[in-house]
Amino acid sequence: MNEILARARRAMPGGAFTTYVLDEEVDFVVRNGKGSKVYSTEGVEYIDCVNGSGPMLIGHAHPEVVEALKEAVECPSNYYLLNEKGIELAEMLVHSIPCAEQIKYGVTGSDATLYAMRLARAFTGRSKILKFEGGFLGGNDYALMSMSPSGPFPDFPRSRPDSAGIPKVLEDEVLIAPYNDLEAVNEIVAAAGGEIAAIIVEAQQRCIDPRPGFLEGLRSLCDRSGILLIFDEVVTGYRLAWGGAQERYRVTPDLATYGKVIGGGLPLSAVAGREEILRLANPRSAADPRKCFTGSTTCGNHVAAVAGIATLKVLSQPGTYARLNEIGDRFRAGAGEIFQRHGIAGQAIGSGPLSQIVLTDAPVTDYRSSVSGDLRLQRKLTMALVSRGVLTHGKFYFSLALSNDDIDRVLSALDDAVSSVF
Ligand SMILES: Cc1ncc(COP(=O)(O)O)c(C=O)c1O
Repeated sequence: MNEILARARRAMPGGAFTTYVLDEEVDFVVRNGKGSKVYSTEGVEYIDCVNGSGPMLIGHAHPEVVEALKEAVECPSNYYLLNEKGIELAEMLVHSIPCAEQIKYGVTGSDATLYAMRLARAFTGRSKILKFEGGFLGGNDYALMSMSPSGPFPDFPRSRPDSAGIPKVLEDEVLIAPYNDLEAVNEIVAAAGGEIAAIIVEAQQRCIDPRPGFLEGLRSLCDRSGILLIFDEVVTGYRLAWGGAQERYRVTPDLATYGKVIGGGLPLSAVAGREEILRLANPRSAADPRKCFTGSTTCGNHVAAVAGIATLKVLSQPGTYARLNEIGDRFRAGAGEIFQRHGIAGQAIGSGPLSQIVLTDAPVTDYRSSVSGDLRLQRKLTMALVSRGVLTHGKFYFSLALSNDDIDRVLSALDDAVSSVF
């Protein structure tokens, strides 16, 4: 282990910033990133398929973002006050997000999902939240219920915390359904509908596509049952389409949550939705008993807003989404061919610039089918890719900066990694 990795381990548990850790043999410290690549402190180049866990959808240090930030960092401050750039970005979000009549800022995606669930509870006067097994909604206590459980699985709709330290009461507050199973959701709502404030869903859960009719079914069930529908678009927002999952699947939720791309790599998030719901986060309405707290010291920070605006301007250019889809499709087709040629049960699932390798050839329609392959081998394959210069966490967040040659290099590394692992 080199000295800088050792320093990280001394200063932080596991030498880690988040939950994403590399095995010791391939671990490294990043020095910088440019376009489709990141470079380690030891000068090793990696084709980046993590992209900051998603925010760097247009690649690292995009010239238009760098140019915009040069001016912003003349005064790299935090005002805790309305500022022009924070307002401009809020307007861009309101104009481009199908469900948005207004937005309210957070800092992290986890803030945004927490605020959205809180707003739903305040708006409906109900307490329970229905989420889907294996859905990742961030690190708040609600989100961590049945986020990535391992078997034996409890029966639906029972939830189980995926972290220690979560209050036991949340097991009654959070109901769990299998993704893509409208019948199961209908049954849960029939039994507890009057207590459910919101159904919160990643419209494309991780890299699993919604079955035709699933999201439409959730929409009409919510309408019939007085439940708010929340799309967590922290990943899918501006990634699956300019209008996110809402545009791609033509279903409009009541609220939607954003993070990652909208801050262009700097910390910024938002909850978007109908004005009659967002109104509850109006700090001026002192008398409203349904008034909700949202806010954080750096909400609307102007430097983050500048990075977000510049990123969204690049994404709004013609051809962006066709190219992002082409990148994802090229990878999926190539990966499928590799698994088939090696005679291994494996596939790259996902759509658009989002993909994930799963070691099963059975259809992946929900969390349990997504973890039905050999997870230990899956991890080994991921680390084998890193050792071959492809940075991934098993999931692939592709960026617009990737050339076809980059994708072909990723595929050739996968071919070689498959040979070495199986
Ligand atoms: C779908 C989804 N929602 C919420 C979050 C939480 O965002 P953050 O890590 O900014 O708190 C994530 C993070 O990966 C996510 O993928």
